[in-house]
Amino acid sequence: MRSRRRRHTAEFISKSPEETARIGMELARSIPVPGVVLLRGDLGTGKTTLTRGIAQGLGLEDPSLVNSPSFTLINIYQGTCPIYHVDLYRLHGARDLYSIGLDDFLGKDGVTIVEWSERLAFSLEGAIEIELKDAGDDQRKLRITNYE
Ligand SMILES: Nc1ncnc2c1ncn2[C@@H]1O[C@H](COP(=O)(O)OP(=O)(O)O)[C@@H](O)[C@H]1O
Ligand SMILES: [Mg+2]
Repeated sequence: MRSRRRRHTAEFISKSPEETARIGMELARSIPVPGVVLLRGDLGTGKTTLTRGIAQGLGLEDPSLVNSPSFTLINIYQGTCPIYHVDLYRLHGARDLYSIGLDDFLGKDGVTIVEWSERLAFSLEGAIEIELKDAGDDQRKLRITNYE
Protein backbone atom coordinates (compact mmCIF):
# COMPACT_ATOMS: atom_id res chain seq x y z
CA MET A 1 0.00 0.00 0.00
CA ARG A 2 1.30 3.42 -0.85
CA SER A 3 1.97 5.75 2.03
CA ARG A 4 -0.65 8.47 2.35
CA ARG A 5 1.70 10.74 4.19
CA ARG A 6 2.60 13.95 2.44
CA ARG A 7 6.12 14.71 1.42
CA HIS A 8 7.74 18.05 2.24
CA THR A 9 10.94 19.31 0.73
CA ALA A 10 12.96 22.28 1.97
CA GLU A 11 16.24 23.63 0.64
CA PHE A 12 18.93 25.46 2.54
CA ILE A 13 22.23 27.01 1.54
CA SER A 14 24.82 26.79 4.27
CA LYS A 15 27.81 29.11 4.09
CA SER A 16 29.99 27.53 6.78
CA PRO A 17 30.47 24.31 8.76
CA GLU A 18 29.00 26.11 11.78
CA GLU A 19 25.87 26.94 9.83
CA THR A 20 25.50 23.33 8.68
CA ALA A 21 25.77 22.18 12.31
CA ARG A 22 23.14 24.74 13.29
CA ILE A 23 20.78 23.41 10.62
CA GLY A 24 21.32 19.97 12.16
CA MET A 25 20.51 21.27 15.65
CA GLU A 26 17.28 22.84 14.39
CA LEU A 27 16.36 19.71 12.47
CA ALA A 28 16.84 17.57 15.59
CA ARG A 29 13.69 19.10 17.06
CA SER A 30 11.54 17.58 14.33
CA ILE A 31 13.00 14.08 14.31
CA PRO A 32 10.62 11.53 15.78
CA VAL A 33 11.98 8.98 18.25
CA PRO A 34 12.42 6.31 17.08
CA GLY A 35 13.45 7.88 13.81
CA VAL A 36 15.87 7.60 10.91
CA VAL A 37 17.80 10.26 9.00
CA LEU A 38 19.36 9.24 5.68
CA LEU A 39 22.24 11.36 4.37
CA ARG A 40 23.49 11.23 0.81
CA GLY A 41 26.19 13.29 -0.85
CA ASP A 42 29.85 13.14 -1.87
CA LEU A 43 32.83 13.16 0.45
CA GLY A 44 33.29 16.51 2.12
CA THR A 45 29.76 17.78 1.57
CA GLY A 46 29.14 17.97 5.32
CA LYS A 47 27.34 14.78 6.33
CA THR A 48 29.42 14.30 9.47
CA THR A 49 29.23 18.03 10.29
CA LEU A 50 25.44 17.89 9.99
CA THR A 51 25.34 14.72 12.11
CA ARG A 52 27.34 16.53 14.81
CA GLY A 53 24.70 19.26 14.90
CA ILE A 54 21.84 16.77 14.99
CA ALA A 55 23.51 14.88 17.85
CA GLN A 56 24.01 18.12 19.77
CA GLY A 57 20.36 18.99 19.18
CA LEU A 58 19.46 15.56 20.56
CA GLY A 59 21.26 16.39 23.78
CA LEU A 60 24.76 15.00 23.24
CA GLU A 61 26.94 17.10 25.54
CA ASP A 62 30.25 16.62 23.75
CA PRO A 63 29.64 16.90 19.99
CA SER A 64 33.37 16.43 19.31
CA LEU A 65 32.66 12.73 19.90
CA VAL A 66 30.91 12.71 16.54
CA ASN A 67 33.34 11.57 13.90
CA SER A 68 32.94 9.20 11.01
CA PRO A 69 33.37 5.70 12.31
CA SER A 70 36.68 4.63 10.71
CA PHE A 71 37.00 0.98 11.48
CA THR A 72 33.50 0.27 12.59
CA LEU A 73 30.29 0.85 10.73
CA ILE A 74 28.51 2.33 13.71
CA ASN A 75 29.20 4.78 16.55
CA ILE A 76 26.69 5.08 19.37
CA TYR A 77 26.31 8.28 21.39
CA GLN A 78 24.00 9.02 24.27
CA GLY A 79 21.89 12.16 24.16
CA THR A 80 18.36 12.35 25.49
CA CYS A 81 18.02 9.10 23.53
CA PRO A 82 20.57 6.75 21.95
CA ILE A 83 22.02 8.10 18.68
CA TYR A 84 23.22 5.46 16.20
CA HIS A 85 25.67 7.00 13.72
CA VAL A 86 26.19 4.72 10.76
CA ASP A 87 28.68 5.38 7.93
CA LEU A 88 28.44 3.08 4.93
CA TYR A 89 31.36 4.62 2.99
CA ARG A 90 33.44 1.50 3.27
CA LEU A 91 30.61 -0.78 2.44
CA HIS A 92 31.07 -2.32 -0.96
CA GLY A 93 28.18 -3.80 -2.81
CA ALA A 94 24.61 -3.28 -1.84
CA ARG A 95 23.75 -5.03 1.39
CA ASP A 96 20.56 -5.86 3.13
CA LEU A 97 19.40 -4.61 6.47
CA TYR A 98 20.46 -7.69 8.36
CA SER A 99 24.03 -8.02 7.12
CA ILE A 100 24.69 -4.42 8.18
CA GLY A 101 23.10 -5.10 11.56
CA LEU A 102 20.70 -2.16 11.34
CA ASP A 103 17.88 -4.39 12.48
CA ASP A 104 19.51 -4.43 15.92
CA PHE A 105 18.41 -0.89 16.62
CA LEU A 106 16.07 0.43 13.90
CA GLY A 107 12.67 1.06 15.35
CA LYS A 108 14.03 0.92 18.88
CA ASP A 109 14.11 3.90 21.15
CA GLY A 110 16.64 6.13 19.42
CA VAL A 111 17.62 8.08 16.32
CA THR A 112 19.59 6.41 13.56
CA ILE A 113 21.62 8.63 11.23
CA VAL A 114 23.07 7.00 8.12
CA GLU A 115 25.89 8.55 6.04
CA TRP A 116 26.17 7.21 2.46
CA SER A 117 22.61 5.94 2.63
CA GLU A 118 22.65 5.55 -1.16
CA ARG A 119 24.47 2.28 -0.43
CA LEU A 120 21.46 0.77 1.27
CA ALA A 121 19.74 -1.79 -0.88
CA PHE A 122 16.35 -1.09 0.64
CA SER A 123 14.21 1.90 1.49
CA LEU A 124 13.02 2.90 4.93
CA GLU A 125 9.54 4.31 5.02
CA GLY A 126 9.14 7.51 6.97
CA ALA A 127 12.85 8.32 7.11
CA ILE A 128 13.98 11.93 6.76
CA GLU A 129 16.14 12.15 3.65
CA ILE A 130 18.84 14.77 3.19
CA GLU A 131 20.89 15.33 0.07
CA LEU A 132 24.02 17.45 0.42
CA LYS A 133 25.84 19.12 -2.47
CA ASP A 134 28.95 21.22 -2.76
CA ALA A 135 27.86 24.64 -4.04
CA GLY A 136 31.36 26.11 -4.34
CA ASP A 137 33.84 27.35 -1.73
CA ASP A 138 32.31 26.90 1.72
CA GLN A 139 28.75 26.70 0.45
CA ARG A 140 26.68 23.55 0.69
CA LYS A 141 23.16 22.96 -0.57
CA LEU A 142 20.98 20.82 1.70
CA ARG A 143 17.76 19.37 0.41
CA ILE A 144 15.64 17.95 3.20
CA THR A 145 12.65 15.73 2.52
CA ASN A 146 10.42 14.53 5.29
CA TYR A 147 6.91 13.22 5.74
CA GLU A 148 3.97 14.60 7.60
N1 LIG B 1 29.04 25.00 4.58
C1 LIG B 1 29.74 23.92 5.01
N2 LIG B 1 29.10 22.91 5.63
C2 LIG B 1 29.77 21.82 6.04
N3 LIG B 1 31.10 21.61 5.87
C3 LIG B 1 31.77 22.60 5.27
C4 LIG B 1 31.14 23.78 4.81
N4 LIG B 1 32.08 24.58 4.25
C5 LIG B 1 33.23 23.93 4.35
N5 LIG B 1 33.08 22.73 4.96
C6 LIG B 1 34.16 21.75 5.20
O1 LIG B 1 33.85 20.58 4.48
C7 LIG B 1 34.22 19.43 5.22
C8 LIG B 1 32.99 18.60 5.49
O2 LIG B 1 33.42 17.42 6.12
P1 LIG B 1 32.44 16.30 6.64
O3 LIG B 1 31.36 16.90 7.45
O4 LIG B 1 33.30 15.26 7.28
O5 LIG B 1 31.81 15.76 5.26
P2 LIG B 1 31.32 14.29 4.87
O6 LIG B 1 30.93 13.57 6.12
O7 LIG B 1 30.17 14.54 3.94
O8 LIG B 1 32.47 13.63 4.15
C9 LIG B 1 34.88 19.93 6.50
O9 LIG B 1 36.27 20.00 6.30
C10 LIG B 1 34.28 21.33 6.67
O10 LIG B 1 35.13 22.20 7.38
MG1 LIG C 1 31.44 11.68 6.92
